[in-house]
Amino acid sequence: MTEPLLGRNIALAVGGGIAAYKACDLSRELQRAGAQVRVTMTKGACEFVTPLTLQSLTGNPVFTDTFDSSQDQQYGHLQLAKWADLFVIAPATADLIARIRAGLGNDAVTTTLLAFPGPVLLAPAMNTAMWEHAETQANLAALLAQPRYRVVGPASGLLADGDVGMGRLAELGEIVRAATALAANGPLAGKRVLVTAGPTREALDPVRFISNPSTGKMGLAMAEAARALGAVVTVVLGPVETPVPRGLDLVRVTSADEMLAAVMSRVEGCDVFVAAAAVSDWKAQTIGAVKAKKGDGPEQVTLVRTPDVLATASARVHGNATRPVLVGFAAETHEVEAYAREKLAKKRLDLIVANDVSAPGAGFGADTNRVVVFDAKGERLRAEGAKRDVAKSIWGAVLARGA
Ligand code: CTP
Repeated sequence: MTEPLLGRNIALAVGGGIAAYKACDLSRELQRAGAQVRVTMTKGACEFVTPLTLQSLTGNPVFTDTFDSSQDQQYGHLQLAKWADLFVIAPATADLIARIRAGLGNDAVTTTLLAFPGPVLLAPAMNTAMWEHAETQANLAALLAQPRYRVVGPASGLLADGDVGMGRLAELGEIVRAATALAANGPLAGKRVLVTAGPTREALDPVRFISNPSTGKMGLAMAEAARALGAVVTVVLGPVETPVPRGLDLVRVTSADEMLAAVMSRVEGCDVFVAAAAVSDWKAQTIGAVKAKKGDGPEQVTLVRTPDVLATASARVHGNATRPVLVGFAAETHEVEAYAREKLAKKRLDLIVANDVSAPGAGFGADTNRVVVFDAKGERLRAEGAKRDVAKSIWGAVLARGA
């Protein structure tokens, strides 16, 4: 993988030290590396640089106050913690390191961090005496004893107060490199993930087709979330207008037959296959070579079944010594669990993600979803919310399965 920050969501937490002004450039550097950046700041940080500066540089609102209800509801600690793949704390002041170590949640930065389970990069910056203080060193050591915390810097040199010594914020390039290394370390690092997404379109003649309203959003959310966890992801995508996240290997297809060919040439090389596409179940037995002219009476079209992409791929890999984890989706309108588990067994899957497409806030085109994940033993997970967050939760279940 060459660009681990591409498409990643980075929460940049700014502490209250003079090096806070460098967080402005850092936000740009992280974006240049392909990441999306959202910022949270301590009260002290806001004394050094204004939230508006960082808002303008990142194009996202800045979270500074847990008690400002408009902030907290829209982009507050829980939203930011869910959204982020990686936290970068720059500058990490002595006070902020101490508060994080103590598990406090007394401002926007620390409440967000308390709700965030992922990797955290600390970039300390402070006066040499504060850096060398036994409490600061003990606090940092305690954090670094947890595998999710890493540190970059500080560097030695001329400090803002005129002293020369340890305590300068690491060079921005070094912070970006450290963030990149941390991002490359996700639980799916080195894994290949194949995802089908979107509808298929089955031509009747050159101007007419059979399809369905799938937008590919859930499949693309699964792909993006896998990418964020470190995987190399290929998406076989049906015809949709939905914007495709960066950093994915994209194979565009139209029909079920094309989707099948694209999947069969790749499925044996992947570690996880996620079939989220809403493949048309039928296609015309013969496709008209020219536009059919309408008559006055009823028309007859003979429909035949399309290939079942997931079932065919599953049958192929089941004979192999090693095979990918197979994840299907089941869009149902009733008896969701029974039908989903039937598909799980019939297509010989490891997991199936069932969603009731008739439920409010779920299904085709929506930005949210409500799903239940089953394996052969029963229910594994329930998740609800933005498709991106639901996708993250589903990956939790896939990882628990040993992907
Ligand atoms: N699927 C597929 N190819 C098909 C049909 C379905 O790869 N031709 C995959 C879907 O991507 C999904 C799973 O199989 O992961 C279940 O799809 P669904 O349409 O819900 O189930 P079907 O098996 O088609 O059954 P039915 O339409 O009868 O509910």
